[in-house]
Amino acid sequence: MRIRPRRRRATPALRRLLTEVRLHPSELVLPLFVKEGISEPTPLRSMPGVVHHSRASLRVVVEQAAAAGLGGVMLFGVPEHRDATGTGATDPDGILNLAIADAVEAARGRLVVMADLCLDEFTDHGHCGVLDSRGAVDNDATLVRYADMALAQARAGADVVGLSGMMDGQVGVVRDALDDAGFTGVSVLAYAAKYASAFYGPFREAVESTLVGDRRTYQMNPANRREAALEVAIDVEEGADIVMVKPAMSYLDVLADVAATSPVPVAAYQVSGEYAMIEAAAAQGWIDRRPAILESVLSIRRAGADHVLTYWALEIAGWLREDLTTSDRTNR
Ligand code: PBG
Repeated sequence: MRIRPRRRRATPALRRLLTEVRLHPSELVLPLFVKEGISEPTPLRSMPGVVHHSRASLRVVVEQAAAAGLGGVMLFGVPEHRDATGTGATDPDGILNLAIADAVEAARGRLVVMADLCLDEFTDHGHCGVLDSRGAVDNDATLVRYADMALAQARAGADVVGLSGMMDGQVGVVRDALDDAGFTGVSVLAYAAKYASAFYGPFREAVESTLVGDRRTYQMNPANRREAALEVAIDVEEGADIVMVKPAMSYLDVLADVAATSPVPVAAYQVSGEYAMIEAAAAQGWIDRRPAILESVLSIRRAGADHVLTYWALEIAGWLREDLTTSDRTNR
């Protein structure tokens, strides 16, 4: 036996030297929920360890995220009132737009402030767009709302707008609206390959979604791999600065495809259901929480994501500060 792969695994020093992918805080992005009308952070039942932030507690966590060296934060707004067209999304005093300004102030340029650009948190029916007279999501009428929403977010100071609605033409329309208003420096993160996934379940509770039914007329069919390349190509052509694959763990094949061909950086979103599954199993004592979390995020990076949106971003950054070699002492 000349080829003995175990030789390379024999000591911690060899394993450390021969590690292909490492996690670093700067490639982690922390999603944050900001709720209108609360004065204290409130825990989310479906996502143990995650909270609804008040505007004040948002500033605190953004400061912590910057101090921990995270790459960015992704903001979601949870408004008190919803209506058919999602007025709160474009109101400069809407919770998300206020939160963007707060976060930008707290971040002081140390991390990237991103905002979710989608109507589902703001509509009373819970769809990502406005509805036509038959109750179907009206693509082109929604684009008009997205353009306005992008301008509101840019005026609030967002560095990056994260288009998660999966409407056709959304990247181009938002890019044009931003450029025409002089916001040429605001980047577009396109949720290019976003699947109609059951793993968004806990998130829907987190944003108090009122959705009845599903999003299968706009989000992708989980069975489709090839189609992701088309979605990415369209978004890049329309001017996306970053493309995203979402969810992450059940779509590592898609992520690897996209990473292999995308001319722009690739993000992946480890979504609420991925978080909740590991937390639930760990709470039962069925899985070793810390190594499971680290392995899950490492696998997303290994599959090709340049950065990862994960609800564990802050906690992982804390772990990474500890000496990594102490976590691998076994020499047998
Ligand atoms: C849409 C949006 C969703 C998520 C992020 N942006 C929900 C959906 O498409 O139904 C899910 C994130 C998660 O599950 O963690 N605004």
